[in-house]
Amino acid sequence: MGYVKVPGKVTLLGEHAVVYGYPALVMAIDLYTRAAVSDGEGAVEVESTYPGGRAETRIGLDGRGGDELPYVKAAIKKVWELQGARRPAKVSIASELPYGSGLGSSASVSVATLAAYSLSYGVKLHPDQLAKLGREVEVQVQGRASPMDTLAVSLGGLIKISHEKFEVMGGGLSVKAVIACVGKEKSTGESVAFVRKRKDELGSRFDEILEEIGSLVESSSKAIKDRDLTQLCLLMNRNEELLEELGVVTERSLNLVRRARALGATAAKISGGGFGGCIVALGGDEKVASGLAAIADRVFLVTESNGVSYG
Ligand code: PMV
Repeated sequence: MGYVKVPGKVTLLGEHAVVYGYPALVMAIDLYTRAAVSDGEGAVEVESTYPGGRAETRIGLDGRGGDELPYVKAAIKKVWELQGARRPAKVSIASELPYGSGLGSSASVSVATLAAYSLSYGVKLHPDQLAKLGREVEVQVQGRASPMDTLAVSLGGLIKISHEKFEVMGGGLSVKAVIACVGKEKSTGESVAFVRKRKDELGSRFDEILEEIGSLVESSSKAIKDRDLTQLCLLMNRNEELLEELGVVTERSLNLVRRARALGATAAKISGGGFGGCIVALGGDEKVASGLAAIADRVFLVTESNGVSYG
């Protein structure tokens, strides 16, 4: 009946400061969640695979079941609300995105489910609408969510985001990046809470750090418009120093950042909440990727991607 492909995302600059109203720069990446929908009977039957896992579930038309896939279930119910009818279907989801590592896996799966299941109603949701509905799904499941992830995976490319405002940067730079991930020591919520505590310890320096991160993001959007990747890299490296000062970069992540630079990356920084998770490096590509593979749990060589695509 139909098929959709939705990218993941990586944060290039601005994490943590974005929580305090400053902008951030995110990029959609070519690691995808693919979802296909076909006719079903009596329920919405879902099969979902992701790196290291697989789940199968059945969501009754009475809304029961499927609790093991909360994002998928919330997305299905969102479509019911939107269409005012409950259709049986088979939904098959396969994601390349590791769960919970800051690469937008939950946004990508939510948006893919919304888009694919809507096809069974003969409706092709627009990327803008998917970003909004996807965020509602994330808020429903997590309690809070920044609009960053669902915007990035729905619209694609490079996006500057601050609160509810966003700007799609049509640089056409086809940015390549190496992403290297290790286990997370704190969840996003815990790392945001840690930074809130740092505000008291750092006093006025805290505001200076956030302000500087905000201005790095503004400069990065100019660098992208000027197609100046070297400048973008310099800004990312400075952002890393400020994240280190905030205290969210663990030894293991710092080791990845340093190794990436030693292997020839022009930029390397943590991406997302920190306390482990992923680092992102620009420049150097294959050599950096294979060098980091020896010390990271997972390494991806990615390229900037378009947003949602229907097949
Ligand atoms: O690690 P992630 O992708 O969950 O990103 C967290 C980014 C923060 O700025 C730290 C929090 C947020 O909600 O924006």
